[in-house]
Amino acid sequence: MTQPAATDREFTYTERDFRRICRLIHEHAGIALAPSKRDMVYSRLARRLRALGMAAFDAYLDHLESAGDAEEWQAFTNALTTNLTAFFREPHHFDLLTRHLRAQTRRPILLWSCAASTGEEPYSIAIAACEAFDSMTPPVRILATDVDTQVLATASAGIYPIERLERVGDERRRRFFLRGAGPYAGQCRVHPALQQLITFRPLNLLDAGYGLRGPFAAVFCRNVMIYFDKPTQYAILKRIHPLLARDGLFFAGHSESFFHATDLFRACGQTVYRRADAVEDAA
Ligand SMILES: C[S@@+](CC[C@H](N)C(=O)[O-])C[C@H]1O[C@@H](n2cnc3c(N)ncnc32)[C@H](O)[C@@H]1O
Repeated sequence: MTQPAATDREFTYTERDFRRICRLIHEHAGIALAPSKRDMVYSRLARRLRALGMAAFDAYLDHLESAGDAEEWQAFTNALTTNLTAFFREPHHFDLLTRHLRAQTRRPILLWSCAASTGEEPYSIAIAACEAFDSMTPPVRILATDVDTQVLATASAGIYPIERLERVGDERRRRFFLRGAGPYAGQCRVHPALQQLITFRPLNLLDAGYGLRGPFAAVFCRNVMIYFDKPTQYAILKRIHPLLARDGLFFAGHSESFFHATDLFRACGQTVYRRADAVEDAA
């Protein structure tokens, strides 16, 4: 989409405003915005200024920083996250997950999707679990978290445009999705049995503590670390480490690697990691 020239813009937006936004979202959610995102940031936050009746970005940012307005902080964060996801993204992860689930003896088996976005990832995990145990009530509990509350609302509703199911084969579509009719034509709904397996909850990976128990048999932490710098990634990996079971699997995104954290996690397959202490014990 062509962006309006700076002078035609509805709201005053300077380079200083952009740098301030970069600092605030980095401090708040760890997200490092590239300079190329300047126009995208304008259009996403312009909606917030309109909603609040403000004329300039600096007034909006002053409000954000001084008013202690938790709701606006959430709206600011929601506006700046990138939520691209898909059902069965990186399909080899789900084949491995299925085998891993069958080998588990603990009940229930705890699984965590820690950047769940609009839900395609946790529902894919739920489907893999149903298939692993050939049951719509497999012995798993899935925690699906994200810093963005808006995507979590979509995830929890479990309703998607039919095109989102392109990568889901016919058999899975029939078994795990309900096709909408009438006003819902063109949409599909995940089977309620899948929703029963998942708890959706906001969680900021930057928080000092997650208030979670574990141990998780698998953690899906995919395509979120790319937004963080290495020290932030390391701090997050350090918090996730004790929550993962010793024989647990940590799934990363296709362009993420953690060779700067080999004291915590070791690669054991294509973008799959195990706890370093468990690997050392086994050696
Ligand atoms: C590109 S999506 C990845 C979704 C899914 N994991 C996948 O691989 O398809 C990245 C998600 O990370 C979330 N995110 C960004 N910063 C976060 C943070 N500090 N804590 C938790 N989630 C965060 C975003 O809201 C977004 O939904």
